[in-house]
Parts: sequence; C-alpha cells; structure tokens
Amino acid sequence: MRKTLLSGVQPSGTAHIGNYFGAMRQFVDRQGDYRQFIFIANYHALTSVSDGALLQKLTLELAMDYLAIGVDPKKTTIFLQSDVPEVTELAWIFNTITTVPYLARATSFKDAEAKNKEVNVGLFDYPILMAADILMYNADVVPVGLDQKQHIEIARDTAQKFNRIFGETFKIPEPMILEKVKTVPGTDGRKMSKSYGNVIGLFASDEEIKKAVMSIPTDSKVVEEPKNPSECKVFALHELFPGADLEALRTRYLAGGVGYKESKDLLVEKIIAFVSPMRARREEIARNPDAVLKILRDGGEVALAQAQKTMQEVRKKAGLIL
Ligand code: ADP
Ligand code: TRP
Repeated sequence: MRKTLLSGVQPSGTAHIGNYFGAMRQFVDRQGDYRQFIFIANYHALTSVSDGALLQKLTLELAMDYLAIGVDPKKTTIFLQSDVPEVTELAWIFNTITTVPYLARATSFKDAEAKNKEVNVGLFDYPILMAADILMYNADVVPVGLDQKQHIEIARDTAQKFNRIFGETFKIPEPMILEKVKTVPGTDGRKMSKSYGNVIGLFASDEEIKKAVMSIPTDSKVVEEPKNPSECKVFALHELFPGADLEALRTRYLAGGVGYKESKDLLVEKIIAFVSPMRARREEIARNPDAVLKILRDGGEVALAQAQKTMQEVRKKAGLIL
C-alpha cells in the first residue's frame, strides 16, 4: 500500500517564493510515490480574512497556483477544506480532549498574543483544526515549512491521546521538512511572510521581482572588500538556487570583487528565469476558471468519501451513534 501524503496552504494572501521553496514544491516532487491530498485551508483562512468576496478570490487563485506549480489532478486529490465540513466535527471532538494550557503553548498563538492581536477563538484552536485535517485522511507524511513543525507535533499528540482514550484509530503522522531550506528570508531578512510585506511573489512580474530584490538592505562595503556571504540577505536568497554558480559567487564574496548591485542583478535574473515558466502556465490556467472549479469539485468528492469513513469510526468510538 502506498503511503498517504497530505498538505495544505491557507488562502490568506498571494503565494510567495518562501511558500514554494519551503513547502509547496514538495507537493510536486513526489507525486506518484504517495496517495496524495493537497487542499486549500479556507476554514483556517477565516481566522484572518473576514471578507467573503476576498476569500473567494484568494481561494480560486490558490487553486490555480497549485496547478501552475505542477500539482497534477490525475495524481493528487486537490480539494477545498470546506467541501468536507466533517473536518470541523472532528476538530470539535479533538477539542474535548485537548486542554487550554496545552494549546496556549502553541507558538502561533503566543506570537499573535505578543503582537497584541485580538486573538479569536478560531486562531487559538487553529492547530486542532489542522490536526483534524491531517488525521482525517490518515496521512503518513505532511510536507510543510519549518514554522509548521509544532503544528504537526500537536497533530501527533492529538492522535496519540485519542487512541489512548477511545482505542487505536489514528496513524501518527510525520512532518516532511526540507532541512536545507528551513526558513526562506524575506527582503528585510525576517522570515518571508504574507503578513510582513517582505515577499517576492511566486508569480510576480519581472518589474515586481526587480523592485523587491533592489529593496533588500545591504551594508556599505565597497565592491573590492571581502564580504561574508552568511551575513548577506541577498546571498541568503541566492542559496535557493544551489549549484556551481552559487559556489563561484560564494568564492567571489569571500575574496572581494563583487558588489551588492551585481549580486542583486544576478539574483533578479535567477528568480525571473525560475518564475517565468510557472507564470506563463498560471496565466494559461486562469483563462479557464471553470476547469479549475471542476477539479476542486471532483477532489472534494474523493476527500469527502474518505472523511465519511473516518468519521463513522470516530463517532462510533466516541459514543455518538446509538
Ligand atoms: P505565510 O507565513 O506567508 O502566511 P503560510 O503560513 O500560508 O505562509 O505558509 C504556507 C506554507 O509555506 C507552510 O507550509 C509554511 O511552513 C511555508 N512557508 C511560509 N513561509 C515560509 C518561509 N519564509 N520559508 C519557508 N517556508 C515557508
Ligand atoms: N497551517 C498551515 C499553514 O499555515 C496550513 C494547513 C492547514 C495545513 N491545515 C493543514 C498544512 C494540514 C498541512 C496539513 O501553512
């Protein structure tokens, strides 16, 4: 039996190269090796997007993004989280076996609190809904970026706790994290994130890419001076493209003789070369939104059938069926 791979992204903004290099490319690399589910976490996005028309738009765009990066509906079940409302039922059942202090330790909650955000109950409970996503489909592996690792641990704990209380039901999922990439830095050196306005869009235009790269702050070292590549925010993005060119650039940084302007120009070139074929596919896909909606509908049916099976067993074990 093939193992199951599952992951999702929230439609809470425009996809960026951090999403791609940190997580989304793993949705494409191993297709065929796994029974694969990739979904759009629109219930999760509701914790930050309270505008129906905007959420619809972002949702359809993310579906197009998945297809443009190469997620293949013939090999992968692509679906909308909300086409399987059972997931909220499972999250509710998990809520009843999860303590408040346990969830209060989640970094996503602590970060939101530290920023003095008004934390809604949905945001507090976010990791439990994510556990329900993962466990509902019996996922073995969950490809995500490093910042989601703790959420996978919460899913593992929740599976173990349910199994202990109600009997063996759920598999314990493993995170799948690209160790070399870890966290892609944004144009300001912090984690690239939709919420920091420091992103390079995955489908950005040449001009947008140029503008973003040129805005990366650098120190005042002149061209001839040796530079430490591991302290340079421009070089950190070069590292997304490993190979002989990267090593040559590293040597030139250390020896002196490369200026930040040249380094930025090279980076712009690399990003454009990388983004433009996907951007072209994305434009092609956007011409036919009905085909995208059909893919989501079909995927939703497959996901729902699996979820109904899981829920039947869960309801029985929890004593919800007479
Ligand atoms: P954002 O922080 O921009 O809102 P999401 O939370 O929607 O991104 O993340 C979607 C996926 O992309 C997750 O698996 C997350 O771990 C990954 N990801 C997001 N930002 C980065 C980054 N800067 N580097 C590596 N992976 C990232
Ligand atoms: N929390 C994830 C993110 O911000 C999105 C997500 C929701 C997810 N449910 C999931 C990822 C289940 C993997 C598995 O990116």
